[in-house]
Amino acid sequence: MQLVLVLNGPNLSRLGSREPEIYGTATLDDVAAACAGIGGQLGLTVDVRQTDDEAELIGWVHQAADQRLPIVLNPAAFTHYSYALRDALAMRTAPLIEVHLSNPATREPFRHNSVVAGVADGTVAGFGLLSYELALRAVAALLAQRA
Ligand code: DQA
Repeated sequence: MQLVLVLNGPNLSRLGSREPEIYGTATLDDVAAACAGIGGQLGLTVDVRQTDDEAELIGWVHQAADQRLPIVLNPAAFTHYSYALRDALAMRTAPLIEVHLSNPATREPFRHNSVVAGVADGTVAGFGLLSYELALRAVAALLAQRA
């Protein structure tokens, strides 16, 4: 089965208790379980990871590029300012879908810009856990198109 990395940036380990009125009550374990479930239906093996560390996240992006692995990425706050993450993602060798639980476009102005969006195949935002499911469906579709 095709391996897909589902990468999550800073503060997403706190899902469930972090501003539930914005991010919902699902935990990161719930995200991982939902991704494993939908991945199984789509013929994808998912490896769900989270870090608060920009360097570690960039290391995972390099690994994905070297191994031609698709990425579903919630860059969290890095979305809005990490040129280093964007530069790493620009070297990608497989599909990349940006995801957000909330819809940053409806929130504070600093969240309206994504430095990642321009190097992604597309972005899914605003659907909570469903954002991840839709992103995995997009990865499966892109892989099928490119096969
Ligand atoms: C987020 C949106 C970002 O603006 C924020 O910094 C996050 C989570 C989301 O999933 O809605 O940490 O990426």
